[in-house]
Amino acid sequence: MIDTEQNQKPDPSEIEQKIDALLARMTLTEKIGQLQIVNPSIFGTFEETIEELIEKLTEGKISVAEFQNMPRNYHEQEIRDGQLGAMGGVTSAEKSNELQRIAIEESRLGIPLLFGLDVIHGFRTGFPIPLAEACSWEPEKLELSAQIAAREASAAGITWTYAPMVDISRDPRWGRVAEGAGEDTYLGSVMAAARVRGFQGTDLKDTERILACPKHLAAYGAAVGGRDYNTVNLSAQYLHEFYLPPFRAAAEAGAGTFMAAFNDINGIPCSASSQLMEAFLRQSCGFEGFMVSDANAVAECVTHGFAQDKTDASVKTVVAGLDMDMSDGTYWNALPQAIAEGRLQENDIDKAVRHILRVKFRMGLFDQPYRTTPGREEQTLLADAHLAAARDMARRSIVLLKNDNQTLPLKKNQGRLAIVGPLADNQAGMLGTWAIGAREDEVTTILQGIREAVAGQSEILYARGCDIMGTEKDGFAQAIAAAEAADLVIAVVGESSDMSGEAASRIDLTLPGVQEELLRALAATGKPLVVLLANGRPLALPWVAAHASAILETWQLGTLAGHAAADVLFGDFNPSGKLVMTVPYSVGQVPVYYNHPQTGRPAGPIKFTSKYIDGPAEPLYPFGFGLSYTSFAYKDLKLPEGKISFGQKINITATIQNTGKVTGEEIVQLYVADPVASRVRPVRELKGFCKVMLEPGQSQEVTFQLDTRDLGFYDEQLQYLLEPGLFKFWISPDSTGSLEGQVMITNA
Ligand code: BGC
Repeated sequence: MIDTEQNQKPDPSEIEQKIDALLARMTLTEKIGQLQIVNPSIFGTFEETIEELIEKLTEGKISVAEFQNMPRNYHEQEIRDGQLGAMGGVTSAEKSNELQRIAIEESRLGIPLLFGLDVIHGFRTGFPIPLAEACSWEPEKLELSAQIAAREASAAGITWTYAPMVDISRDPRWGRVAEGAGEDTYLGSVMAAARVRGFQGTDLKDTERILACPKHLAAYGAAVGGRDYNTVNLSAQYLHEFYLPPFRAAAEAGAGTFMAAFNDINGIPCSASSQLMEAFLRQSCGFEGFMVSDANAVAECVTHGFAQDKTDASVKTVVAGLDMDMSDGTYWNALPQAIAEGRLQENDIDKAVRHILRVKFRMGLFDQPYRTTPGREEQTLLADAHLAAARDMARRSIVLLKNDNQTLPLKKNQGRLAIVGPLADNQAGMLGTWAIGAREDEVTTILQGIREAVAGQSEILYARGCDIMGTEKDGFAQAIAAAEAADLVIAVVGESSDMSGEAASRIDLTLPGVQEELLRALAATGKPLVVLLANGRPLALPWVAAHASAILETWQLGTLAGHAAADVLFGDFNPSGKLVMTVPYSVGQVPVYYNHPQTGRPAGPIKFTSKYIDGPAEPLYPFGFGLSYTSFAYKDLKLPEGKISFGQKINITATIQNTGKVTGEEIVQLYVADPVASRVRPVRELKGFCKVMLEPGQSQEVTFQLDTRDLGFYDEQLQYLLEPGLFKFWISPDSTGSLEGQVMITNA
């Protein structure tokens, strides 16, 4: 490689020297300033806490509209005084450059700011929610999605995203399952790394990329009862085996920052956990960047009852390894006092400042603090290539759950189509949670997408039928009339965007409001019923599964939702997505996930086995499941013969054949189980996957190479054990297993 200046990576020791020199010039106030990120405040003071704001809104002292329209204080004075390390919530090139100019030109030391925002799935071009994207099982596509989000967000002045969310989620009641890659640790780790690469690229200096912040360290998805912010009770083995690997993968992919979770684990709030931040992330994963708190989470150590007051909380979190406080000024207010009282040493502050400055130097911010211009925004946002990629990602995110009698794909000249349901012509409902940069009025609805696809070929009869929530059934008559007059009904039902994401846990996993009643009334017309689900979490819909002719799980597909759904409905794209979370039969089964430990009494016909007396133990749809417009056969499993020893790699091969009539893609999955071990092991675990494209009749051999060192597990002392014995392997279209074989693995 030619050693041009662009190709030169920063020399770490050179950066450390620069940090030393800068630290030596910084006052304590300036140091503490680096540890603070705030959002533009509406009241213009640091004194207004988030709790007080929420109280004012709840008590009606200010309306939502007033809240949104209030002039913001961008804390220019604090920036000038060197008292801020980063700003959140700034979403234009002009504003971020203006604030950066104050930091560079008017503050004493000219330390550049970071501009953080939740860029979670696309920016102005809305991509599918992360849960949906993961259903493509295509890390390269997720990487591209994150890269495009970064390109658009960076054009708008954002330099740091609080993403990806890499929490393993086994509980669909938890609204935040929408933000992650589902329930599986292996898949979650692959996707975590892909998203980090997409956001950051290979060089933090790249002005079209943004700094990633994998979150929430850790096990936030294991909140008891699926209730947001709730406590987590987890053994150390489970934590390390199921919840931490995606964080390690993200660290290995080079993530520059991480965010601590709101929850406590076994009594220690994550923002104050040296086990997570120091022992795991820094010492075990080799992380060198900085740790930010979740919003107001330092102060919430007081509410947890883990700290006496905010000063105590600040001391405990800094000591545990947290570097930056995201709030309205907890560190800013508390740390000077903590130092004055000798409860913290200036060294403790220096350590955190060093982590933050290191990232800023690695990003090259001191040399190039302005990473965009307003002109770049215009060229970049909603660029044609971004829209095309968003449409492709959306098609790949759709999971075909049912297709009786090959109802789908539809013909474009189908005749008369009744399009019904509260989400059929709904722009906001397509965007999903955390769509901060995307605009509702730029979304193509499902109805529009279908209209454009069949223009001049089929007649469309549209009726909303009912609202997403509520009990009103006045619209049923019109919907039933449309169904009766049509050859086929497409019902688009599900959840609104604010029913998933943060603070959106649900007690019930059925369709909200009277939507299922609407479906029952439509089915009673006898017309074929195609159900399109638009939702942010798996929904438990046994009646729909039993009675719809076809079901497409479309999740929340983003700006191009309508076109993507139409591409799949009319067969311009053959669906290939597969579920990354188990779909329960009933909320009563939750948490239900495929890789559960083997029980002493697996569910069976006998009463005294692990099941329910009033419903099935099996989920409605298993992890890894998804249909296609074609069919695939799995055959010729080949495993190594004879004994294999730990340390050796093994190849596991099968042949996949397209046995249907159209070209299609299949996600082939490799599962492994250790049936007998010194600890009870999962019934099976995903250890590999790939996607193959096959023409009708075509066969392809698929080989997975597995490192036998990945077949171990942790004991109670967190020792990683590799235990010899017989291991089972499956190559399979989903987590229920099809081709099965075994291999004896020994100790060398
Ligand atoms: C969420 C984080 C998010 C942060 C900043 C918090 O409430 O838990 O995921 O990044 O807000 O918006």
